[in-house]
Amino acid sequence: MDAAAFGEQHIAKGIGRLTKHVFDEAKGSFITTDKGVKLLDLTAGIGVVNLGHCHPKVSAAAAAQCSKITHAQVNVGFSSAQIRLLRELLPILPHPSLDTVFLWNSGAEAVEAAVKLARAATKKPNIIVMQGSYHGRTNATAAMTRSKTIYGEGHGPTMGGVFTTAFPYYSHFGAAPSTSANDLVNQALLQLKFTLQQQTAPSDTAAIILEPVLGEGGYVAAPPAFLHGLRKTCDEHDILLIADEVQSGMGRTGHMWFVEESGVRPDILVFAKGIANGFPLSGIASRRELMDRQKPGSMGGTYAGNAVACAAATATIQAFRDEKVLENVAERSHQLFSFLNELKASGSKAGSWIEDVRGRGLMVGVQFADPNLELESGNGAAGPVLLAPKIVKECVERNMLLLSTSIFDVLRFIPPLTITEAEMGMACGIFRDALEAVVRDL
Ligand SMILES: Cc1ncc(COP(=O)(O)O)c(C=O)c1O
Repeated sequence: MDAAAFGEQHIAKGIGRLTKHVFDEAKGSFITTDKGVKLLDLTAGIGVVNLGHCHPKVSAAAAAQCSKITHAQVNVGFSSAQIRLLRELLPILPHPSLDTVFLWNSGAEAVEAAVKLARAATKKPNIIVMQGSYHGRTNATAAMTRSKTIYGEGHGPTMGGVFTTAFPYYSHFGAAPSTSANDLVNQALLQLKFTLQQQTAPSDTAAIILEPVLGEGGYVAAPPAFLHGLRKTCDEHDILLIADEVQSGMGRTGHMWFVEESGVRPDILVFAKGIANGFPLSGIASRRELMDRQKPGSMGGTYAGNAVACAAATATIQAFRDEKVLENVAERSHQLFSFLNELKASGSKAGSWIEDVRGRGLMVGVQFADPNLELESGNGAAGPVLLAPKIVKECVERNMLLLSTSIFDVLRFIPPLTITEAEMGMACGIFRDALEAVVRDL
């Protein structure tokens, strides 16, 4: 039986899969299957291999760590691999108040750790999440996810004490894409006021958590005024602000962390994905004063902050610095945005389907609309044709991996941050061909 057929038979059906390819090796921006098909990877393993697949320095650091100590259990003692990592990590965190760290394995676990910390530190039970949020698929994080019902559907009851407020995204308000950021922010902050008056009282609310760039919900960056409004509300009511930068962090948006754009200080930062460039590592950073309110023994876990993953993360942070990765993000971001905006404005049939081009750095979303139908909301959600999944399929046929996102008609570009100019040019060409093929007969 061939490998894909074996996988179909013995791997959980609950895992949705973009392709039936069996990935065998990968280098930089490309991933190769067991049948020798080489694909340009515009997913970066869903925002994980920010330095490209198998970055030589990261792989070498992990390999070296494997011969030193692989498992230095955190409830038994400190680990020098963790300490080395924290010496590199603390200086790049977005605010000096974030001086204490708890390391975990996955993004969802880190979000759960943030919730535990917020509840323990404030002695309040409830959490406010954003419409469109994605925080993971564990029991608690599925309860906190509002991007699609699939993540919780049929698996309830999930964790209680979760309430929802609006995120400033035009599709959520049935508004036109041209709606000003100011109007959207005012609407969203008004809804937050109502959430605190109608759903969960400030005295019961431990934290507001948001992805500063909504990921699974549509690739929408929070305007600075929204983040400042959240900070103000949190300060007024003694509520903690949690920034889930699992997807938007580690250079993805052109900043090391997206909250740096607004200068807003989160009380808790959640990180994962790009931190170790492919090794399972996540964590939260907060102030010592808050973390000290948790009793010793209440946190930890067998693989928390695994030594090999920590060594990989240390090498990842060093490579970011030494290889001027953020400069490449700025240049490739400009290249991608210019291409997409020019295509949108070109007057071509393909371009006329592009409703919105948005994002920051190399976290870029494209939303489609049917220009002929004049949908009331202006977005693809209510439309009869969803282009994004069809474009994804056409891209795969042209040996490029690209993902859609959200309930709306949105594609997301998340290439490795080390993608070259030529590779980005190739990606743009494949995307244009795929879009043209999809709209040809519409
Ligand atoms: C913003 C955000 N939070 C949390 C998670 C969950 O991370 P993990 O899949 O590592 O559990 C993700 C994963 O995509 C994410 O994008």
